[in-house]
Amino acid sequence: MAATVRVQSQIWVRKLAVPWLLCGVRRYASSNFKAADLQLKMTQEPHKKPDASKPLVFGKTFTDHMLMVEWDERQGWGRPRIQPFQHLKLHPACSALHYSQQLFEGLKAFRARDRSVRLFRPWLNMDRMLRSAVRLSLPSFDRAELLECIRRLVEVDKDWVPDWSGASLYVRPVLLGNEPSLGVGSPSRALLYVILCPVGTYFSGDILRPVSLLADPAFTRAWVGGVGDCKVGGNYGPTVFVQREANKKGCDQVLWLYGPDHQLTEVGNMNIFIFWTREDGVLELVTPPVDGVILPGVVRQSLLDLAQTWGEFQVVERRVTMQEVMRALAEHRLREVFGSGTACQVCPVHSILYQGKHLHIPTMEHGPELVLRFQKELSSIQYGARDHKWMLPV
Ligand SMILES: Cc1ncc(COP(=O)(O)O)c(C=O)c1O
Repeated sequence: MAATVRVQSQIWVRKLAVPWLLCGVRRYASSNFKAADLQLKMTQEPHKKPDASKPLVFGKTFTDHMLMVEWDERQGWGRPRIQPFQHLKLHPACSALHYSQQLFEGLKAFRARDRSVRLFRPWLNMDRMLRSAVRLSLPSFDRAELLECIRRLVEVDKDWVPDWSGASLYVRPVLLGNEPSLGVGSPSRALLYVILCPVGTYFSGDILRPVSLLADPAFTRAWVGGVGDCKVGGNYGPTVFVQREANKKGCDQVLWLYGPDHQLTEVGNMNIFIFWTREDGVLELVTPPVDGVILPGVVRQSLLDLAQTWGEFQVVERRVTMQEVMRALAEHRLREVFGSGTACQVCPVHSILYQGKHLHIPTMEHGPELVLRFQKELSSIQYGARDHKWMLPV
């Protein structure tokens, strides 16, 4: 296991888009925390674990333990602790609360039929988390060490990983600035913690339910030069208002448009994919490029990787506008539109409300062949008892 983590860490160093030197001063001033220094304090009051008989509402049930690591400018990282799940104590001036110096991640552990537990592509979440930390001037950390701490936490709460269809354990790492003063600047203190939630299947009864979208160019989720490509809390709070506007208009989620040409960027908290026949007759799967506005989703990358290995149609990362979508619809070239993300994996879209018109998207009429194929492939990797290079055994 340790060897796997070490090799992966070397690959990260080679692949990482963030220049390591950028965070160099902070990196060397502060030591990294090490999984070998983990302190473990088990709860004296274990809670009852959920069972398949009651639906699990996302993010409302937490396991017995959490990971906690503290950082301060003078001493660097403290020893990582696995401790009973508990409230935080924050200074009222805490910079995460005032200036959104806060980031998070979301990944899942799955229980295979042979009861073994594995994390899905956690290395990509560690990469993204470090990139978010650099962008927010929060302290950097060693991704391999954090991942090993998370693996140990999941191991401690392994019995909380549900074993029924479509269920999993959601892992939520958080890093926040804990500066106890009102100046805006790099925080002199930070907290890194990880909590775990057992979660049920996204589609109740395992029935694929397509979603309707509101595409209103009056609202923008992210912009070039901003932080749309980082998983920072500040990107999410302001979307709730827009989500409610969508609901008021009878839509399930928001289709985020960008620019004067109304490019499609993301669906709610998911990346977007379009499967169509191009004007030149070529069958293509397209998703917007990671250009600063798009969150580089782990499931997005996985769908691209899978489709590339199948080699049955073109797989392209490029911008797509509403005009192009409407033209493809009118010419009966549009096959499937869907979102991708850790929560749902793959989610079909059946309508878009745009400029006062309801556009019917024929995803379900097309099977949805590709959506179902991706879902089947992902779940056989995630719940399969066999080892797979995307899965980290716990
Ligand atoms: C804005 C946004 N886009 C896309 C995604 C999908 O990312 P992932 O596949 O890593 O869950 C998420 C979910 O975290 C998100 O919040």
